[in-house]
Amino acid sequence: MADMSVVLSGIKLENPVIPASGCFGYGAEFKDFYDLNILGSFSFKGTTKEPRFGNPTPRVAECTGGILNSIGLQNPGIEAVINEELPRIAAFFKKPVIANIGGFSVDEFVYCAERLDGVEQVGIIEVNISCPNLHKGGVNFGSDPKAAAEVTAAVRKATGKPIYIKLSPNVTSITEIAKACEDAGADGLSLINTLLGMRIDIKSRKPLLANKMGGLSGRAIFPVALRMVYEVRKAVKIPIIGMGGVASAEDVIEMMMAGASAVQIGAENLRNPFACKEIIEDLPRVMAELGIERLRDIIGVA
Ligand code: SIN
Repeated sequence: MADMSVVLSGIKLENPVIPASGCFGYGAEFKDFYDLNILGSFSFKGTTKEPRFGNPTPRVAECTGGILNSIGLQNPGIEAVINEELPRIAAFFKKPVIANIGGFSVDEFVYCAERLDGVEQVGIIEVNISCPNLHKGGVNFGSDPKAAAEVTAAVRKATGKPIYIKLSPNVTSITEIAKACEDAGADGLSLINTLLGMRIDIKSRKPLLANKMGGLSGRAIFPVALRMVYEVRKAVKIPIIGMGGVASAEDVIEMMMAGASAVQIGAENLRNPFACKEIIEDLPRVMAELGIERLRDIIGVA
């Protein structure tokens, strides 16, 4: 039988398939489509200290091969997530979740990490220093190695849980940022977040998104994500969760060959809510065709 299991910082996942933050809410909207316990894990919506409505609308625009979003981290805030969302998740998901956190200052990241530290359901804290849709915070921390290291070191001190720093592709050298995070104590890295983009409504002659610009995700960005995972794999020793345009079992395998220890699926869930289920079910077939017995053996083989 195909062995699809992988390990992230001592946490064994049955398979490497993880819905990405921002495309799966807190799981509730997906739980009636299929039993979510088939997933390796899932990363919940980026959560901040205070509740946030997010950016003005319109904040999504379809593009060829992808979607542009400028959501602006809409979420109910860390207290509601701990007191309401996580107990709701516990009713339908029995595995450790990945808690994605965002912030507008180092102190806010630290606050969220401290609050999640004692929560048993949380396996990994994913620290989003790469949101392109905020006028402060977000990618401002993720585009400078010093700032990225500062957030990483502070969150490192705040929690005993594994911390994975989510990196932006909107930088000159992603490897420099990756190394800074590794040196500051990150247990792993998640990459890539969305690519900054824009659309214009040619009838109104105005940007389609109220925030003017947004992050591009979906199939169109897969080769860029793959290249960055490949480069970062060579630069650091800590595990990488690869993401960006992954939409099939073949893509998961390609991402792992580039160096990912696990793989997140984002925009494809919005196009097809069964995407992760179909990918998990298809992986054994693709593994057999390629002569792969243990998925973890292919990590970084390229
Ligand atoms: C958002 O809520 O703006 C998307 C999150 C992100 O891209 O990090």
